[in-house]
Amino acid sequence: ASAEKDGYEHFMMKEIHEQPKAIKDTLSPRLNDEGFIEIDEFNLTKKDIEGFDKVMVVACGTAYHAGLIGKFALEKFAKIPVEVDVASEFRYRDPFVTDKTLFIAVSQSGETADTLAALREAKARGARTMAITNVVGSRISREADDVYYTWAGPEIAVASTKAYITQLVAFYTIALDLGLKNGSLKEEAYHRVIQELKGFPEKAEALLQYKKDIQFLADEQFNSTSAFYIGRGIDDAVAKEGSLKLKEISYIHSESIAAGELKHGTIALIEEGTLVVALATQDHLYDKMLSGIQEVKARGAYVIAMAKEGNQEIYKTANAVITIPDTFDELTPILSVIPLQLLSYYIAVARGCDVDKPKNLAKSVTVE
Ligand code: G6P
Repeated sequence: ASAEKDGYEHFMMKEIHEQPKAIKDTLSPRLNDEGFIEIDEFNLTKKDIEGFDKVMVVACGTAYHAGLIGKFALEKFAKIPVEVDVASEFRYRDPFVTDKTLFIAVSQSGETADTLAALREAKARGARTMAITNVVGSRISREADDVYYTWAGPEIAVASTKAYITQLVAFYTIALDLGLKNGSLKEEAYHRVIQELKGFPEKAEALLQYKKDIQFLADEQFNSTSAFYIGRGIDDAVAKEGSLKLKEISYIHSESIAAGELKHGTIALIEEGTLVVALATQDHLYDKMLSGIQEVKARGAYVIAMAKEGNQEIYKTANAVITIPDTFDELTPILSVIPLQLLSYYIAVARGCDVDKPKNLAKSVTVE
């Protein structure tokens, strides 16, 4: 079994390390020789794309969190309104879906019952349906009109890591493609983002080199009974995934709250020693995050902050700082999630948890 794990102690760690390759394997088949995105498996014409008046993304768990990033990417690059919903909610309301809706189901396994049912519901209402999935021939891939395969390779650990990162790559490439085709994105900006994305396997690899520092933080914090993840903008979506990772595998109570919402309730729970993980990777929100960090510090929180390298102020404000390589604000999620995965992993290991097979959870939930 250890051979299957390539010498790593757990599949989760192996899969975290496979992320640079997974990014590359998902991105490169979608880039043609001229440096344009070409998603062969899509049969969307320019006319189809111009006909959509909204995108509806539906998924569960980690895939839902990828959808939240997808919303940012699609709204930013393709200027099209996006709704994101959890599959179990979508199908029990009366969702506003028409033949002008592009519906995207995201599912690592392609077998999640709620997501499949949501896809069928959207189809019945006339939407154009698309699946982002990691499993060729899965039920969701067979039923959607178009399929975008994430080439993460088999994911064994229950907690999703490399599949999530490839779902992000999928959304960025779809958003850029739609944006160029519907005229929202100028060719120059489009190429700049693609160029930056091409450097991500290397940037992700560089981040993995800091794992000892993260293990050190985990060894200090593993006894926490409660954790709060805060962020703004796209960081809020990444914070949600970081928080889910922690609770899934370490069983520490953890929640994620948009930093600006803290003062409307959650700050009441911050006390001496409470662990707060604060994401501050967005330039235009950086100062606001610094004051958010000060607010929780003033109430005794122990703050692990994440920022782009080169930010100095944050070292004075937070208790510990994790940095990510410099990149465009829109693209940080592909990098910022990696230290959060590692933090959860090392905390779970320090607590003696069964990292790959957490209690009460299944890799894919094929019943309602
Ligand atoms: C389960 C897994 C999660 C996963 C979710 C959705 O709850 O434990 O890790 O994110 O299902 O799975 P899917 O295969 O649809 O992405």
